[in-house]
Amino acid sequence: MSGTLQSVLHPAGADAAVVEQFAWVLFGAGTVIFFAVMALMALSLRDNARPLRPGLWIAGAGVAFPVLVLSALLVWSTWRSAQLVPQSSQAALSISVTGHMWWWEVRYRDPAGGREIVTANEIHIPVGQTVHVGLNASDVIHSLWVPALSGKRDMIPGRVTGLTLRADRPGVYRGQCAEFCGAQHANMALHVVALAPDAFRDWLRRQAQPAREPQGALLERGRAAFLAQRCQTCHTIRGVAETARLGPDLTHVGSRAHIGAGLLRTHRNTLAGWIADPQAVKAGVFMPAAAGTDGATLRALAAYLEHLQ
Ligand code: CUA
Repeated sequence: MSGTLQSVLHPAGADAAVVEQFAWVLFGAGTVIFFAVMALMALSLRDNARPLRPGLWIAGAGVAFPVLVLSALLVWSTWRSAQLVPQSSQAALSISVTGHMWWWEVRYRDPAGGREIVTANEIHIPVGQTVHVGLNASDVIHSLWVPALSGKRDMIPGRVTGLTLRADRPGVYRGQCAEFCGAQHANMALHVVALAPDAFRDWLRRQAQPAREPQGALLERGRAAFLAQRCQTCHTIRGVAETARLGPDLTHVGSRAHIGAGLLRTHRNTLAGWIADPQAVKAGVFMPAAAGTDGATLRALAAYLEHLQ
């Protein structure tokens, strides 16, 4: 898999290629015009510069030129925009993503049983397929933007919007909330993982499974700590406690590359640090610290979550 580039200038899908072309054409045209104006200004400042029919310059360079250039760019960009992949919820695969302060809830429909598969902060898609992503938000306005794959689209509480994602080669593409949504807006990242269709089907089948049973005393203790700490008030682990929707679904948290919406790599050490003091990692986050937990229990809980692959 390629790296996790977050760049408009490295498109990995057809729509992103259109956006990249816009960026280069506008940047190129702006650069040419800027240097032309600077050259004319330098000429006009020479000692022996003589005014050359000022009325013609004002009408030509001040009125006709901008009208022509802006009209041409408008016609071209409208024509090019019409070639973007049409937004349609009839795509082969539909995913829904809900923005929360400050993480992403991602829901799939299980092709086998039809029930929902809930995950967080990572969107897996099959390469070469057009994927419709239905968007909304639970609290304030967020915006989904994965520059290598598409343009951005706002996520508005009480309203469903949509975005088409399509990756033409496998890779991990970083995205970012693109609408200021509070203290941790900057740390509201996500990753789109584009997999070969077979690998995607395998991934979805694994995600549809309930959580792995803990093997051994440490992991058993970790699961008991999850319940004793009342983590299930906010977090679901399918097969353990399934009613909460306030925080990210943790059924397969160990299979995700990051915790804290792209903030830390998933590892029992980062999990333990996060659980012990989330405010120290991501100030303002709604998760309370695990109060009165001894080190051994914390280690067991972190090991248990890491093992939820
Ligand atoms: Cu969510 Cu900014």
